[in-house]
Amino acid sequence: MTENALPRFDGSAFEGLSPEMLQAFDRDGMLVLEGLVSDADCDALMLRMGTILDAFDPAAHHSVFSSLSNAQGQEQYFLDSGREIRFFFEEEARDKDGRLKANFRASLNKVGHALHDLDPEFCAFSRQPAFRNIAQGLGIAEPLLLQSMYIFKPPRIGGEVTCHQDSSYLWSEPQSCIGLWLALEDATIENGCLWGLPGMHKETQPRSRYERLAGGSGAGDILLDERPWPVEECVPLEAARGTLVVLHGQFPHRSGANRSDKSREAYALHLIDGRCEYPATNWLRWGKDNSIYGFGNKVG
Ligand code: FE2
Repeated sequence: MTENALPRFDGSAFEGLSPEMLQAFDRDGMLVLEGLVSDADCDALMLRMGTILDAFDPAAHHSVFSSLSNAQGQEQYFLDSGREIRFFFEEEARDKDGRLKANFRASLNKVGHALHDLDPEFCAFSRQPAFRNIAQGLGIAEPLLLQSMYIFKPPRIGGEVTCHQDSSYLWSEPQSCIGLWLALEDATIENGCLWGLPGMHKETQPRSRYERLAGGSGAGDILLDERPWPVEECVPLEAARGTLVVLHGQFPHRSGANRSDKSREAYALHLIDGRCEYPATNWLRWGKDNSIYGFGNKVG
């Protein structure tokens, strides 16, 4: 781990956000809580993902997720993933003959976006009191669990994620999105940790909006501010296993490609406030009753 100037807090005996934590989140737009999740819980989540992967036939579907190409924005498999557990490969997962270069787990970009509602173990983990406590401590009076992602960032082929704000993808009016990003393995500069721009969450609105495009032509970015992000000013957010990084929805962040031989698995959960409107133009939608659930025990 390298040093950086951002404050880090001990989350191992977490009982609520302290005034210092709240001050840091307000100033920086993010908060690092080290050791918030135990090794045993990280192990359990990773093991559970293994079981989920065992039940999926990697030959059945090949959908790629890439923040560089947005090819997924035209695919129904992705567009319908709001209420499903779906599997997205890395752009470089296959060789020129179409064969996976590595095993299934080491070929995936992510699994999303409803693990927290559909899988009992992810449901229980995602609804732990500490997460509710954090959300409510940040002023989200009626936290709703909007989406979940299990991110693999596999060795050698883990793709770069370009600089973005989560609120662009999870738009509410007013903006209320927060991200809970958990390092399931040590995230370092070498294996593609998060990087971000502390303080830049205070702009009045997100710089882009990713939404359903008119005429049923998939989903894509609507630019609201054409200035490029000053990515050279990003600071690394290295995180040891068990660290929870809380992200303000307008905190600009990115992650580098993983060219190392170590994976960098993470679990990310995004919440919004049920008091806010969630416009139908959002890319992420649900089937059946079109509901977003809170911290009650929703499964199925
Ligand atoms: Fe993000």
